[in-house]
Amino acid sequence: MKQVLLPVRARQAALFVLLPTFLLLTRCRQAAPTPTGLVAERAMVVSAREEASRIGAEVLARGGNAFDAMVATEMALAVAYPFAGNLGGGGFMVYRLNDGTVGSLDYREKAPLAAHRDMYLDSLGNPLPDLSRKGATAAGVPGTVAGIFAVHEKFGTLPMEELLAPVIALAEKGVRVTAKQAERLGGVRNDLITINGDSIPFAAESLEGDTLKYPALAQTLKRLAANGRDEFYGGHTGKVLADFVQARGGFITLEDLKRYQAVWRDPVVFGYKDLKIISMAPPSSGGVTMNQILKMMEPYDLREMGMHSARAIQLFTEAARRAYADRNYYLGDPDFVEIPRETLVDDEYLKQRMADFSFEKATPSNAVREGSLQVYESAETTHYSIVDTQGNAVSVTTTLNGAYGSKLYCTPLGFFLNNEMDDFSLKAGVPNMFGLIGAEANSIAPEKRMLSSMTPTIVERDGDLWLVVGTPGGSTIITAVTQTILNVHEFDLSMQQAVDAPRFHHQWLPDMLVFEPEGFSPAMKDSLRLLGYPINEGLTPIIGKVDAIRVLPDGRLEGGADHRGDDTAVGF
Ligand code: GLY
Repeated sequence: MKQVLLPVRARQAALFVLLPTFLLLTRCRQAAPTPTGLVAERAMVVSAREEASRIGAEVLARGGNAFDAMVATEMALAVAYPFAGNLGGGGFMVYRLNDGTVGSLDYREKAPLAAHRDMYLDSLGNPLPDLSRKGATAAGVPGTVAGIFAVHEKFGTLPMEELLAPVIALAEKGVRVTAKQAERLGGVRNDLITINGDSIPFAAESLEGDTLKYPALAQTLKRLAANGRDEFYGGHTGKVLADFVQARGGFITLEDLKRYQAVWRDPVVFGYKDLKIISMAPPSSGGVTMNQILKMMEPYDLREMGMHSARAIQLFTEAARRAYADRNYYLGDPDFVEIPRETLVDDEYLKQRMADFSFEKATPSNAVREGSLQVYESAETTHYSIVDTQGNAVSVTTTLNGAYGSKLYCTPLGFFLNNEMDDFSLKAGVPNMFGLIGAEANSIAPEKRMLSSMTPTIVERDGDLWLVVGTPGGSTIITAVTQTILNVHEFDLSMQQAVDAPRFHHQWLPDMLVFEPEGFSPAMKDSLRLLGYPINEGLTPIIGKVDAIRVLPDGRLEGGADHRGDDTAVGF
């Protein structure tokens, strides 16, 4: 985790727009936690890499708004963080304008036209997970380029060429390999070579301090800057992409690319105590599931129980268990399935869901499975949070799904393809790579979007912007975002402390309460075990990598850049 204050010129200008501290302080109900992360006067970007946060923050300092910065940051992550940043994947953006208007953009990948329900089953009906996880067959139709152009068209103020120029310069100049990146690349190198041969840029061993350059990606970005969205969805770049995928046995055609559209959707908006929470609606499960968890917990005095007390963890676990069971059964692409959204978050329904909860013992999940804990990967997908000088906020989670997606690298265009098809339910009752058990609502169909857990979120308090938050982490995204919000709201942690705090996770099936390696006492775990909670023993994974911003009572911004990664807050 790093923190960078942009110089000066921009910071001086802040004086003109700072609201009187006095006014804001009088509106505070309780002393706000002292910030421990980067504090900036006017604007901030927090993302997985310093290069991307800096490029986004520089757009803000030049007078661009949060949406301009989103375009630049998203593309800069594709260069600086190819592990999850992408042109070959998709994502979700939740926004809140400074007048309180909220909205969201769905640029999730779609199943190709050739897709069908049993496409990843063998002749006996058994799943063929390699086909949905590795190589060309795993890739859904990418949405990211449509996403940035949709955002730019609706809200952008600076020309696309200007937004992409520093990203192109970064791709040409190259990106320094960090220790964590070298380790990640080492971990997948054999797979990358198996899938791509040994001529891709990542085939040679990368050491900390090396520089990786991306000339093909720079050329792709130049064509996008010059020719616009259709370059990717029908032009030269689209043709190269479709030919490349099909030559390797994949399903994406030029027709798929031509038909792809990003979709503006109403976000999920709900109250939790004195907060208003704005998050992503289906085809992400994030907003609905977080809504259920928090509403099931709301009647209890969490603050009184204490952070990471056995009772607090038990309550969270039981709410999450019930919410994930609903998630896996009811949620899917709303353009294809009826989702009983109102019922799922209805107060009476949620009260009934918790009616059999008791602090005396664990509620067993419907069918207890022996969970293979390898399913919990820590950092695939990536999140960034932005607040601009006008008080507009953008919360974006974007993904290739697995680490480096399908690991298929489109050499002529310079980016990885996603393996998002694995987020569909390949067969009812069979877990995906995150151990999530799917149902009919998330079965495969042509042009359907696969269910996601991504939870880009914005929180208001007293009608004002308060938090911008999100994380990678597959199925653990929803619990990590929910715990981060609770850490600040219930337990008075600063943004940085809330992001860094140890996390735990439960997702109904496998029936396993998973703790991160540090920060949870053996005695507390023993007491939960006695109540009937199966607890992970051997493998204690990293859960999430949260990047967040808190608006302080005086209007300044505190960044929370997760110490688990190379994540960096840059502000001014
Ligand atoms: N691919 C991870 C997610 O969308 O939840």
